[in-house]
Amino acid sequence: MAAPNGRHGTGLPETMEAEEEGSFAPSALGTREHWDAVYERELQAFQERGDSGEVWFGEESMNRLIKWMEKRKIPLDASVLDIGTGNGIFLVELAKLGYSDVTGIDYSPLAIQLSGRIIEKEGLPNIKLQAEDFLNPSTKLSGFHVCIDKGTFDAISLNPDSASEKRKQYVKSLSRALQDKGFFLITSCNWTKDELLNEFSEGFEILEELPTPTFTFGGRSGNSVTALVFQKKLIQNVDLEAMWDQTKKLPLTSGLTVWPWACYSPLWILCPPLW
Ligand SMILES: C[S@@+](CC[C@H](N)C(=O)[O-])C[C@H]1O[C@@H](n2cnc3c(N)ncnc32)[C@H](O)[C@@H]1O
Repeated sequence: MAAPNGRHGTGLPETMEAEEEGSFAPSALGTREHWDAVYERELQAFQERGDSGEVWFGEESMNRLIKWMEKRKIPLDASVLDIGTGNGIFLVELAKLGYSDVTGIDYSPLAIQLSGRIIEKEGLPNIKLQAEDFLNPSTKLSGFHVCIDKGTFDAISLNPDSASEKRKQYVKSLSRALQDKGFFLITSCNWTKDELLNEFSEGFEILEELPTPTFTFGGRSGNSVTALVFQKKLIQNVDLEAMWDQTKKLPLTSGLTVWPWACYSPLWILCPPLW
């Protein structure tokens, strides 16, 4: 399996160029049927030849992430989620390094089957796997210290069916999956740094850009892959919508005394409390 050529790199066919800012021509890479077919073939190759399949963006993409985790001293008991884990090779690498709380999800059950076989062969029983659509995540998918995405946001961006909505849903799911101040490491070949900053501007701040290979073409140089580290902002701690829902459920008799100050305080100016 090879990574597609990046839009901001070189080599993307004209027909695949975005028609408008922030969108891509739809592609089979954005559909579950495509990934099911890929992992069906890879499962067969694994059964027949023990071939685990390729790593998206190559081994160096994993080393880059691991290097950052070591530099940042991410503890070995930190909970790590690999979003769209594919054959799960990154989970294997993390577990071999001693990370004890690693989870991989993928919406293709065949990817989960393949990663399960590979993990079994490697004798690493503690890795957790779940067939799950990140755009419709279960409630269990929350509280992670670190979320990793290598190529999954790219794939989702190519979905033929309202990709821009799906990207927004991705950001919401990510907010839920990560704990406050948690880290999000994304590797993309479709989005530039500035575009990713824009996509994740709500609720996330950039910490670092990880170095990726550069190329020179026609006298100009650039990167074919972008790797960024974001941190979830603390402000998302306050879930105003949930707070409001809770407030509406309170019995009326509990009245002003138990209403959140946020709702009541504007009235203080006009009508000071009676107690
Ligand atoms: C480009 S591959 C990358 C696989 C792996 N992360 C790697 O680096 O080798 C994208 C993966 O995302 C998965 N995927 C795409 N959309 C998804 C979604 N909505 N929820 C979960 N997984 C998804 C695909 O099945 C596929 O395994």
